[in-house]
Amino acid sequence: MSLRVGIVGGGQLARMMIAPAVELGLDVRVLAEQPGMSAAIAATAVGDYRDLETVRAFARDVDVITFDHEHVPQDVLRALVADGVAVHPGPDALFFAQDKLRMRTKLAELGMPQPVWAAISDAAGLQAFIDDNGGRAVVKTPRGGYDGKGVRVVSAADEAADWIDALEPGGQLLAEELVDFTRELAQQVARTPSGATRAYPVVETVQRGGVCAEVIAPAPRAGDRLIDLAEQIGVAIADGLGVTGMLAVELFETVDERILINELAMRPHNSGHWSQDGAVTGQFEQHLRAVLDLPLGETAPRAPWTVMVNILGGPADDTLESRIPLALAAHPAVKVHTYGKAPRPGRKVGHVNVSGVDLDAVVSDARGAAAHFEG
Ligand SMILES: Nc1ncnc2c1ncn2[C@@H]1O[C@H](COP(=O)(O)OP(=O)(O)O)[C@@H](O)[C@H]1O
Ligand SMILES: [Mg+2]
Repeated sequence: MSLRVGIVGGGQLARMMIAPAVELGLDVRVLAEQPGMSAAIAATAVGDYRDLETVRAFARDVDVITFDHEHVPQDVLRALVADGVAVHPGPDALFFAQDKLRMRTKLAELGMPQPVWAAISDAAGLQAFIDDNGGRAVVKTPRGGYDGKGVRVVSAADEAADWIDALEPGGQLLAEELVDFTRELAQQVARTPSGATRAYPVVETVQRGGVCAEVIAPAPRAGDRLIDLAEQIGVAIADGLGVTGMLAVELFETVDERILINELAMRPHNSGHWSQDGAVTGQFEQHLRAVLDLPLGETAPRAPWTVMVNILGGPADDTLESRIPLALAAHPAVKVHTYGKAPRPGRKVGHVNVSGVDLDAVVSDARGAAAHFEG
């Protein structure tokens, strides 16, 4: 009988696990938040991932539960584990990906390089942090943020007054130094329940308005020192937090050539979409192999360069799918990935991957193809 994988969450990450699941002969099912989501092309149940009985019923006839996002509550995760369900990543690891303050605390314990940070409970505390850090700070809501929502650069505490006022008793915000980075990088590592790990080459990521716009794999101008350091950080976190499945570590490279950890994701990640077409084993296949404790695949790039460009917003007046013929005709080397999502300004609705030998040519091919879908 086929191994059965249950994915909680019906977004594009679940959707992109489906093709490799089919190739590997896996039986894949999705618990989606709503009907008609990105992953609805697989056998899909619809229900609330915060409701234990809903998740329990979904988990009843699968061999492993994994995720499209990190938001399943700890009590639900722990109840599944107590039921004997294989949950990967498990609650002990996800604990640190669900809350940026817990993540910072744990990474500090592990001695990992991080920006200066503090837990903030009131305006006076935030103002003191700003004053101690050159008059500016990055304030983050510890939970539920994505694509720059929940991240704000401030130069006075009152610029975060709405978040401070909304804190529950005992609640805290995360304050970080505004890192003067030369670029952002991401390191991915796959880890199995047996403890095997495979690292991907470190990549460069470009964020616009807090949203990932482009990824270059491998990171240009990366010397052995940087490559080794990023890999060591990724593997140390995967091992130290007991991550199972794919781990992404978002990194800052600073002007003084330090590497600082921005945040973690315990699932396939936008910084790894390049690997679908640019690596021997794509991250979605690797995630499935990892959570099923199958042997991990080779992570080497298939080409000197692969560039991923996100399609943001999408066409205002017609469907993204209707633009595909033109994009394919103009860019035959491009791989288009669509998410089956209704376009909205700034929303990630797809991406393109292009590989090749000349980086400038690959970048312009990828940007040109993505441009067919925007506006
Ligand atoms: N401490 C910081 N210093 C400078 N820029 C930051 C800092 N933290 C976040 N950013 C910028 O904001 C982006 C989004 O922040 P992040 O914490 O990764 O939130 P999200 O969960 O929305 O991805 C980062 O990719 C980076 O460009
Ligand atoms: Mg981020």
